[in-house]
Amino acid sequence: MSGRIAFGKLSRVLLFVTLIILCIAGCKEDKKKAAYTIGFSQCVGSDLWRKTMLDEMKTELSLHPGANFVYADAENSSDLQISQVKKMLDDGIDLLIISPNEAQPLTPVVEEAYNKGIPVIIIDRKTASSLYTAYVGADNYQVGKLAGAYIASTSVGQINLLEVMGLPGSSPAIERDRGLMDGIKESPNIHVSKVYGDWLKQHAKAQLRKNAKQLAGINAIFAQNDMMASGAREVLNDLRLPGTIKVLGVDALPGNGGGLQMVGNKTLNASVLYPTGGKEAIVTAFQILNKEPFSRENILQSLVIDSTNVKLMQFQWNKIESQQKDIEKQQSLLADQQAIYKSQQIVLDVIIITLVLAIIFGGLAFYSLTENRKINKRLEAKNNEIVSQRNQLIEMSAKAEAATEARLNFFTNVSHEFRTPLTLMLSPLQDLLANDKLSLLAGKNLRLVQQNAFRLLKLVNQLIDYRKIEIDKQTIKASENNLVDFVREITEAFRVYAQKMNVKLYFTSPEKEIKAWFDADMLDKVFFNLISNAIKFCNEDGRIKVTIRKNGPDYVYIDVEDNGIGMSPEDTALVFDQFYQADNAPVTGSGIGLSLSKEIMLFHHGNIDVKSQKWKGTMFTVSLPLGSSHLNAMEKNYSRNDWSDLAEKSKIYQGDFNRLAVEDSYNLLKSPSEHSILIIEDNTDLLQYLTDKFSENFEVFTACNGTAGITSAFDNVPDLIISDVVLPGVSGKELSKTLKSDVRTSHIPIILLTAQGSLEHQILGVQSLADLYITKPFNFDYLSASVWNLIGNRALLKEHFTSDISTTERLTISKKLDKKFLNDFAGIVEQNLANEKFSVDDICKIIGISRVQLYRKVKALTDCSITDYILNRRIKKATYLLNNESLTISEITYMVGFSNPNYFATVFKARYGCTPSEFKKSKA
Ligand code: FRU
Repeated sequence: MSGRIAFGKLSRVLLFVTLIILCIAGCKEDKKKAAYTIGFSQCVGSDLWRKTMLDEMKTELSLHPGANFVYADAENSSDLQISQVKKMLDDGIDLLIISPNEAQPLTPVVEEAYNKGIPVIIIDRKTASSLYTAYVGADNYQVGKLAGAYIASTSVGQINLLEVMGLPGSSPAIERDRGLMDGIKESPNIHVSKVYGDWLKQHAKAQLRKNAKQLAGINAIFAQNDMMASGAREVLNDLRLPGTIKVLGVDALPGNGGGLQMVGNKTLNASVLYPTGGKEAIVTAFQILNKEPFSRENILQSLVIDSTNVKLMQFQWNKIESQQKDIEKQQSLLADQQAIYKSQQIVLDVIIITLVLAIIFGGLAFYSLTENRKINKRLEAKNNEIVSQRNQLIEMSAKAEAATEARLNFFTNVSHEFRTPLTLMLSPLQDLLANDKLSLLAGKNLRLVQQNAFRLLKLVNQLIDYRKIEIDKQTIKASENNLVDFVREITEAFRVYAQKMNVKLYFTSPEKEIKAWFDADMLDKVFFNLISNAIKFCNEDGRIKVTIRKNGPDYVYIDVEDNGIGMSPEDTALVFDQFYQADNAPVTGSGIGLSLSKEIMLFHHGNIDVKSQKWKGTMFTVSLPLGSSHLNAMEKNYSRNDWSDLAEKSKIYQGDFNRLAVEDSYNLLKSPSEHSILIIEDNTDLLQYLTDKFSENFEVFTACNGTAGITSAFDNVPDLIISDVVLPGVSGKELSKTLKSDVRTSHIPIILLTAQGSLEHQILGVQSLADLYITKPFNFDYLSASVWNLIGNRALLKEHFTSDISTTERLTISKKLDKKFLNDFAGIVEQNLANEKFSVDDICKIIGISRVQLYRKVKALTDCSITDYILNRRIKKATYLLNNESLTISEITYMVGFSNPNYFATVFKARYGCTPSEFKKSKA
């Protein structure tokens, strides 16, 4: 058990550890994932310069794996760019990089971002505000100035310079223009005219074509970016203007179509390098995000590239490009390696977790294995103990079975032995009863002997039958017979006994013939038992109904119903148990009959059931299957059963219920006895026997149940009561308690008779206040001696009560009651001694009992009549007054309740042999 608890605890700990490991692994993964979201708002994304910027950013971002990069192209529209930035802010970004299309319109949204605490990096173009975190880009003023200085240094004479400007509101357009003007400030020979190309080649070309006339006098063009510059060259060429016209641009991008290529192939004369700053912007962004030091203004270097240095620049750019490609290759390799590393890391994590779990579960398995071994050992020991106990039990039950069988064998053998002598007793008895003379003389005793011999024979037969069925497993020999005839004949066999018992017996069958397979020799015992029981348990004027009914084609049912004393649910449940006897059964039996009947019905593949209600009646229902398919060949006997001896067989049951009428004439002939006795006994034979015996010396009252006994005791107030303990209804013990606690009967000695001879039962008997407890079988002489003894004791008690009323001796409840009664009685008499009209009826009224009860009670306790007692008290008081008071005789006469002095003198003389005056004189 403890092992199992420890195992449970360990499992929980393991689960916890596993969860922690998985959590750590998960957290590790999460840490790697922790990333920033950088938003990049580009004013226009379609041209080469901007694409280069984006590529640079992405290359740099690849060094920060996991970072989120949100990109939006405003396509030259300030409004679109504003809304795109707002969306980024709503979606949530950690840092904003913006190249504003126009300075003024974009200023508010950039300030909003900055004010929200989001770092802002301005790249290339600027807003009109200083609210930004960092700026990345070349100095556009410087770019313009470099261009101006270059034109001034490479030109002689009058120069007409046309400046093709970018978008009017964009900061590079403004700053480059300012720079240009400062760059040529020292060259008054340079005259500048301007057009807006909005940074776009097609716009620039369109503007130049519009001013084609003006172009004729132009010596140099400065376009603010290379795209517009290449457009200007195309327009010049289209207009067949001289190739000597210088065209300058800005950006000097490497690669195909870039400014370097155009300088190299002389499309442009020069281009001012204008780096995109893409890489620098990302570097600065991570410095800001990682809270590292960074520079707010990151100004990128510019220089003029023309035919003198273009080769070098191209060479360097090519080198950088190839290096860049190498880097990219390396990066892709690195990415591959990282992917491999990542997957290997996962595999490693899984392996480590599995290993840890394997170790833990291994430990757990080992622990539970050792615990299981311990438990198994304990179980094995318990099992061995149980097995040895079971073996002992088997041995004991085998011994008990053998002992039971031996006992049953003994009973069966004895029963067999009893049968012959019983038969030998019964037939001479029959002869003796047939003899009229003998029957007159000793008929009653002979019938008693016959009944009990029959009863004994029935018990012996049942015991033998029980043995045959239960132990020898004897099967039935069934044949097909008319069940209606069979049951009717059994019922008829009992009619005479039923009549004797004043019980009405009815037989009903809806059909004259019901063919059924049964063993008549066995089935008759079932009905003998049921009908004889029904008669036994019926009160006088009882009713028994035997009914056959057929419910469907499969079964026939026979009900045996009585309106007798019924049984409690507890008794009903046990009624078919072997040797079971109900507690308050009015007639004692062996307890075999119903158990035997059940067995017989089971042998017939039928059954027997019971329904009963206490004090209402009992119904037994026998069910018998119809047809013969339920019987095997062994159980069938093809010759028809013979049941002609039913009446003879039923005779042995008469012993159970012959109620012999008390012959009142017997008592009438006798002279009235001095003492009376009440016998309460439900066994009619025993009641009769005791009545006969005690009638010689006593007036005998009888009752066959407790309630009737109590009523008789109150009505007749006998001198002694003999009662059985086990009685229908009120038991002997309850009866004893009731009578001893009632003033009318408390003085009557009670003897309880019982078969329950244990010490415990005897103590219970005495506790019920009975005077004596005699166990059955009893010796009559002993009972008789006890009766005389108790009556004698009662005489002693009389003296005790009448001589010393204030005794302090310990008294039983009944004696206390008697004492109180006598005190009350004496008190009433004393108070009324002067009342000449005082009568017995007055005492009855005051005490609350009947005249007869008062008379018997006073007689029993004082051994004199009430009138004698009152007279005695009057004379005694008169004697006292004569002795002690100086009163006249006539005064004393009235004080002690005499109507005249002459009568008083007569009574006094009868008692003391002298008149009251003579008595007074002698004492004086
Ligand atoms: C590209 C571009 C460049 C120029 C810059 C100025 O869109 O026009 O050619 O140098 O923008 O903002």
